[in-house]
Amino acid sequence: MQKENIILENAKKLVQVKLAGEASGHDWWHIVRVRNMACKIALEEKADAFICQLTALLHDMADEKLNDKPDEELERIHFWLLEQNLSPTDADHVIRNIRTLSFKGNGKLVPDSLEGQIVQDADRLDAIGAIGIARCMAYSGSKGRPIHDPVMKPREQLTPEVYRNGQDTAIMHFYEKLLKLKDLMNTDFGRKMAEQRHQYLENFLEEFYAEWDGQR
Ligand code: ADP
Ligand code: NI
Repeated sequence: MQKENIILENAKKLVQVKLAGEASGHDWWHIVRVRNMACKIALEEKADAFICQLTALLHDMADEKLNDKPDEELERIHFWLLEQNLSPTDADHVIRNIRTLSFKGNGKLVPDSLEGQIVQDADRLDAIGAIGIARCMAYSGSKGRPIHDPVMKPREQLTPEVYRNGQDTAIMHFYEKLLKLKDLMNTDFGRKMAEQRHQYLENFLEEFYAEWDGQR
């Protein structure tokens, strides 16, 4: 097997062990979807598909929701990449991508490479559309939060701390993150993919409120 394929296989095993049983929307199949979508966008955008796939596979490993010390975990992954005989330049690249991918309440971080931007788009596409709705409900349920509370209003200015720990409902999360994602896409292909998924969110909300009010 080619060196790159061996590294991808090893990364896959590493991630599968870490995410086994994860029930807050970061499960293994999220990683598989992000990897597949990143490959698809990489082809369109003529990017390095290996770096995209490696970033996609590892992108949630050092997430603060899954780690008490995310920075230490990121260092451990950096070391692991070098152990895999990945060049220091590529290892730095993947780590930089992972560091800048996450939404963290404001969506202001943008990876500085095309490959990082592609995986960010793929990750964000998985947060909208039908799958995005399912993940949002699963995440909210895992935190014991309500589906909807008409008294609670979406918050405008979200710091990373409030984004993670504040009072929240699943429906509030649509306004605080999901509906913003289509305008934050980095690539043309990602933007195009986001359109239909975004429309699906809008349709869902319309139906949700109509049913809430007993109109349908
Ligand atoms: P990122 O890794 O881009 O920061 P998150 O880790 O915040 O994304 O989100 C992972 C998944 O969980 C996404 O589908 C996201 O929409 C969902 N999620 C995150 N925070 C909440 C929340 N407060 N309520 C509902 N779903 C959430
Ligand atoms: Ni992710």
